[in-house]
Amino acid sequence: MFKTLPGFREFYPEECARRNFVFSKWRAAAESFGFREFDPPVLESLELFTEKSGEEIKSQLFEFTDKGGRGVSLRPEMTPSLARMVGAKAAGIRRPVKWFAIGENYRYERQQKGRLRAFYQYNADILGDGSAGADAEVIALLIESLRAFGLTEREFKLRLGDRTLWALFLQSMGVEGEFMIPVLSAMDKIEKVSPEALEEMVANALKGSGAEAARIVPAAREIIKARSLEEIRASFADAPELAEKIDSRMGEWRRLLDLLSALGVREYVSPDLGIVRGLAYYTGFVFEAFQTVGTGRALAGGGRYDNLVGKLGYQDMPAVGFGMGDVTVSDLLELVGKGGSLDARPDAYVAIGSPECRAKALETVASLRRAGLRVDYPLRDMPFGKQFKQADSTGARFAVAIGPDEISKNRAKVKNLSTGAESEADFAALADILRA
Ligand code: HAM
Repeated sequence: MFKTLPGFREFYPEECARRNFVFSKWRAAAESFGFREFDPPVLESLELFTEKSGEEIKSQLFEFTDKGGRGVSLRPEMTPSLARMVGAKAAGIRRPVKWFAIGENYRYERQQKGRLRAFYQYNADILGDGSAGADAEVIALLIESLRAFGLTEREFKLRLGDRTLWALFLQSMGVEGEFMIPVLSAMDKIEKVSPEALEEMVANALKGSGAEAARIVPAAREIIKARSLEEIRASFADAPELAEKIDSRMGEWRRLLDLLSALGVREYVSPDLGIVRGLAYYTGFVFEAFQTVGTGRALAGGGRYDNLVGKLGYQDMPAVGFGMGDVTVSDLLELVGKGGSLDARPDAYVAIGSPECRAKALETVASLRRAGLRVDYPLRDMPFGKQFKQADSTGARFAVAIGPDEISKNRAKVKNLSTGAESEADFAALADILRA
């Protein structure tokens, strides 16, 4: 017997219907914000990910050499592909670019609840606009995409951090240049590992820089306690040489929070420098949405990445966006009873009275289908009673009976399967009646 590989799911129709429900809400939310759908390839050249995404993702790649000797990888995320697609068309593209995608990503992760090796992710990104307006639009879409399921601030929140403030903080501690990203990757673990383990990671990242992990880590643990702009500003108090830059950045924070208020989502957002984000390419505001019930897992994450398009060899273009996974979102919907299913049930099941009636019945089936209705029927002859059972089990709204009597009168019997009400209809009028 063959089993699915660890971390891969197979979707039976009921599960597909639940997944389609999630996708349809995401798609509708993105479209309501004026985003257009795009679709990058699943397999990419390995370097696209090894160069830009950061160590953690690199270690999780599903990579191999193809028959042409190319190093390739299944995509662990869509952001580098998006940056390439937009970069390649930058000259002729209308800005801001507001695009979304829904597709499967692959990461060779250690198995744990909420994390799989193949998962769907909904991405929405804005490229070509470096203003807080773009950050606000993306964050508002993230929140509305969860609200679309009826989720509220009782069930999730968005924690908003800032790589720019982190960079200023680290600068004030003597961290410069190429050491910045490795230290930030270590700091991404600040809530997950012990202070000692963090200090060791930071010390490793700082080797050769002269900066001291033993001084940086305790100070970092202080700045992540702040939950308001005042507290954040106060946690930077003893950095006089950077005061001007910090004040100017706090102005951008105020601007962003004002826009989020105007967009009606401010109550979901909590300033919180504990959010650093593990991916290497983020440059400004970063954020993660967490469920506040049950496991408290991450539902979505994103941020600003103003250098990625340029690093791929195209003209620089500011960018901001998020990715939201289907695994944790679906688990949360189930937990709080807000899941749904998009099952395409037949509109009608055509029951066939006797073998001689099959040709006329199939003609009717074909014409109803061409009229846009979803229609099922028995593939072989069987008693009426059994056909009605089958009609019920398909979930059809109506059963249409076609026997010798109906054919001679040119009128079919129609039964509403939820109310049991029966009526008759001319064959020519059937489509209209079933549609009503
Ligand atoms: P990420 O934080 O790696 O960001 O992933 C975003 C979301 O995808 C997570 O919050 C989680 O819901 C889901 N996810 C990630 N890995 C797994 C997994 N192994 N199993 C199940 N779900 C998972 C990114 O991927 C960025 N590219 C997002 C982005 C778009 N940033 C800017 N634009």
